[in-house]
Amino acid sequence: MSNIKDVNLWQSGSDKINWVRSYMPLLNSIEKEFSETKPFAGMKISMSIHLEAKTAYLAHVLRAGGATVRVTGCNPLSTQDDVAASLVHDGFEVNAIHGTDAEGYTKDLIATISHTPDLLIDDGGDLMSLLHGEYREYGKNLIGGCEETTTGVHRLIAREAAGLLDYTMIDVNDADCKHLFDNRYGTGQSTLDGIMNSTNLMIAGKIFVIAGYGWCGKGLAMRAKGMGAVVVVTEIDPIKAIEAVMDGFAVMPMDEAAKIGDIFVTLTGCSDVITEKHFKTMKDGVLLANSGHFDVEINKQELASLSTEIFDRKPNIVGYRMADGRIINLLAEGRLVNLAAGNGHPAEIMDMSFAIQAKSLEYLAKNKGKLEKKLYAVPAEIDRAVAALRLKTMNIEIDYLTPEQKEYMAKVD
Ligand SMILES: NC(=O)c1ccc[n+]([C@@H]2O[C@H](COP(=O)([O-])OP(=O)(O)OC[C@H]3O[C@@H](n4cnc5c(N)ncnc54)[C@H](O)[C@@H]3O)[C@@H](O)[C@H]2O)c1
Repeated sequence: MSNIKDVNLWQSGSDKINWVRSYMPLLNSIEKEFSETKPFAGMKISMSIHLEAKTAYLAHVLRAGGATVRVTGCNPLSTQDDVAASLVHDGFEVNAIHGTDAEGYTKDLIATISHTPDLLIDDGGDLMSLLHGEYREYGKNLIGGCEETTTGVHRLIAREAAGLLDYTMIDVNDADCKHLFDNRYGTGQSTLDGIMNSTNLMIAGKIFVIAGYGWCGKGLAMRAKGMGAVVVVTEIDPIKAIEAVMDGFAVMPMDEAAKIGDIFVTLTGCSDVITEKHFKTMKDGVLLANSGHFDVEINKQELASLSTEIFDRKPNIVGYRMADGRIINLLAEGRLVNLAAGNGHPAEIMDMSFAIQAKSLEYLAKNKGKLEKKLYAVPAEIDRAVAALRLKTMNIEIDYLTPEQKEYMAKVD
């Protein structure tokens, strides 16, 4: 039994899925291949990932491969109810409602794994957390799973280091065809999309503070600069800080950036990046947004406790009035702004990420019983095959090494 908002919303969800289907050639070709090879025949798959059109198409592709697929979101604000309705209309079991509370969210996650999956997709590590805790029995058939994002991978690495990882997992995030494109170009574009969509304000000429110059931060900095913003970066890693400087950005501590910024975006995967002492020095009217996985980067509790009034300004924007009259605007409740206030990454980007997901799940299925309970990298041949296929869909040819060149490159002296 599904738990969604309203199945009657399905038509607009189906339109969205059909739209992205037209721009995801890698998944088109994998869908065709899986319908013939049926790598998941008789298997059950659980998916917890931002529930919007691209994800829904991935669910269809996995079903084409023979699986029974259950779907939920990985963040209550990124779930699109019409897309969930379309999946249910097409016979999937879906447990996800936009804006559900923490209890409802956890119930939906539990329902998604209660069919004792053979394979799973996690995004941020919430399914893994349940399967290592109270709901361990739902993991009894699990061959393995794939983790989509940096934060989830950090949780798996910590679990493995503590000797507490009880399942085979594949780190999809660190595949080249994932983070080099999804985290960088996807987050770069879609974070701006979420901010512009909700605020309808100018980017050009604004002081745009980016916390974290990792893959996501680099992509956002590149795109914000392209739109005319003056970009300021905050970092804790000296090497990333030098990269930001050499890419032409000002680098300073958040204590300094807080005083001058107009727009702030956190993308660190860390907590308490913007806190009380920063809110106290910010300019009137600043915009605060987060594009890191969890809503812990901007300390919302401290922001609320400093406020004399908290009021809705526009969809996805809440104003916090300070005692001195300044208003600090928080976008999308400090949750992933690109998904909660935008449409997430472009379809062409998710095509690559989800091709890696689909082929990694196939790899797990093929290697049932052969893999250890540990975190594996995506096999290099999958990464290269996805890249080669992507180039082909873009009609781009590249050079290949001649036998003489291969010999030259292999020479010792
Ligand atoms: N919005 C999206 O759609 C999306 C997509 C991919 C990843 N993510 C999430 O975004 C976050 C960042 O991902 P990434 O791939 O860029 O990670 P990354 O590890 O490449 O980069 C994170 C950077 O933040 C820096 N950092 C850490 N703590 C900091 C602090 N307190 N202040 C300033 N800088 C700090 C690190 O030194 C690092 O350079 C993760 O939570 C990830 O799960 C979001």
